[in-house]
Amino acid sequence: MKKKGFIFDLDGVIVDTAKYHYLAWQRLAQSLGFSFSEVQNEELKGVSRVRSLEKILAWGGVTLSETDFKEQLHKKNEDYLSYIDSMSRDELLPDVERVLLYLKNQGQPIALGSASKNARLILKKTNLFDLFDIIVDGTNVTKAKPSPEVFLVAAKQLEIAPEACIVFEDSVAGIQAANTAGMLSIGVGEASVLGKADRVIKNFTELPNDQLDQFIQS
Ligand code: BG6
Ligand code: MG
Repeated sequence: MKKKGFIFDLDGVIVDTAKYHYLAWQRLAQSLGFSFSEVQNEELKGVSRVRSLEKILAWGGVTLSETDFKEQLHKKNEDYLSYIDSMSRDELLPDVERVLLYLKNQGQPIALGSASKNARLILKKTNLFDLFDIIVDGTNVTKAKPSPEVFLVAAKQLEIAPEACIVFEDSVAGIQAANTAGMLSIGVGEASVLGKADRVIKNFTELPNDQLDQFIQS
């Protein structure tokens, strides 16, 4: 049996948390006296917490002291975690669990490649933690997507060559990271946004098991 490295982003690919990040950032921006658009929000997907705040403040033309910056970061995460607290397995995105279970049953290596520092918590909350052989998250990398670091570290830990890895991503920055890493990039979302991906699916219902077999054999 051939082995490929299957690398999944978390927010917006496995769980429907992208909307909670957006809500929490919007609340923060409003408290500072400005708001930002959904188009700008696309630019925050896949981007680390610190970098996201830097971008938001630049959009709003606001400068904060180091102490205030840290406080806002903390507040945003508390707000985000209050949504996560009441999250259940209903928030798993369509068919992603079927895909993970199928790959696991086929003995395929599975990794998480996420910018989030809350990744382990969310995987535990949704009972998916044990399906992952490797978890690389915001606590393990120094360079945020679009740097390929997170995916290259995942491939290394899986002991699979980057060329034999398949990345599932919902963010523009993440698709760029996967492409730079020399991996097959599958965009999960809108083709109009994720045009640089090797292939785009709306969600995992578009990837039946025989398509997964093709990925494994290719
Ligand atoms: C990414 C999200 O997965 O994780 C971003 O797409 C988020 O929106 C980033 O900012 C960092 O997440 P966290 O949970 O560490 O704040
Ligand atoms: Mg994402």
